[in-house]
Amino acid sequence: MSNVFAEEPRPSQEEWGAAPPQDAGPFGLHLDAALAADAKERLASVEELLLESVHGEDPLLTEASKHLVVAGGKRFRPMLVLLASHFGDPAAAGVVPAAVVVELTHLGTLYHDDVMDEATVRRGRESANARWTNTVAILTGDYLFARASDLLADLGPDAVRIQARAFARLVRGQIQETVGPAEGGDDLKHYLRVLADKTGSLIAVSGQFGALLSGAPASVVETVTSACEKIGIAFQLSDDILDIDSEAEQSGKTPGTDLREGIRTLPMHHVLAGVGSGPDDARLRELLAQDLSDDTLHAEALALLRAHPAMDHARADLRHWAEDARADLLTLPDIPARSAFTGLCDYVVSRTG
Ligand code: IPE
Ligand code: IPE
Ligand code: MG
Ligand code: MG
Repeated sequence: MSNVFAEEPRPSQEEWGAAPPQDAGPFGLHLDAALAADAKERLASVEELLLESVHGEDPLLTEASKHLVVAGGKRFRPMLVLLASHFGDPAAAGVVPAAVVVELTHLGTLYHDDVMDEATVRRGRESANARWTNTVAILTGDYLFARASDLLADLGPDAVRIQARAFARLVRGQIQETVGPAEGGDDLKHYLRVLADKTGSLIAVSGQFGALLSGAPASVVETVTSACEKIGIAFQLSDDILDIDSEAEQSGKTPGTDLREGIRTLPMHHVLAGVGSGPDDARLRELLAQDLSDDTLHAEALALLRAHPAMDHARADLRHWAEDARADLLTLPDIPARSAFTGLCDYVVSRTG
């Protein structure tokens, strides 16, 4: 086994593939000047507190945590907290710590998810389970949850409860994905519930924290929360589409992981349900019913799926979820942060990584 304490150089932007477009802000958003300056400044504070939070007494826990913190990542959830805080007082004390809480929680789930999915690449770097061991990756994930809880304690009992409940939903989503739908049950309904639970939950809490902790009115908190849940579902739908049709340089992950792990995502459900038939339907259906850990079979299934019309149907479904979120957002007060949120609805549809 390699030396688990060995140093590894930080990858370049191109390697982790998360560089934002030059002519727009993060997530392709065209933010107004004040919002852009605020987001930039407070995202820098988030980075600082993130690094400070994972720095601990144990050198391996610190190194394994920093491994993915410094690898980049989009910081989508912290951005939601920061944007949502503009519906109240964005300078409220809890906002930056809450943004760190959601990112630490998210990161902890990624360490665990890569163990479950046997993934070897994350954020364009070796995953922690591949770089060290499953044990190190699991314990590092636990450590990140503990660090998140520490910050959360200062945000008050309501915030602790909101996070605890979302986290329980997230875990339920992950376990339900592993268990799969019941015999004779509605596969698509099961899939959508998994998306809402495993991803929508924490993305909803990100918006909720930003609005709540900044003192926004209760009706605004409610709308931001439900719109963010829909954005979260769309975000995971796009992740599932990208798992099929993006390259590792863009996503920072290994394409076709869901197929290899036997996880049925929306395009596969569409193929199996006969939505949008293609010339190789029979062969693709046959492959989807098999174990695809064999490299040749996996490559064949991935190529057929990429070319299948079911992909366009899944993209249309994704647009539908994003539009649904946008419709909720348009009932909010018309401030620059609202335009930023609606811009995120476009981002989830068009993102490539
Ligand atoms: C990956 O999340 C896991 C999902 C819920 C789809 P992100 O796509 O936000 O991952 P990072 O933080 O940018 O690496
Ligand atoms: C994982 O979904 C979602 C969570 C970590 C809660 P995926 O397994 O699709 O995420 P990626 O593609 O590995 O990032
Ligand atoms: Mg995964
Ligand atoms: Mg995925």
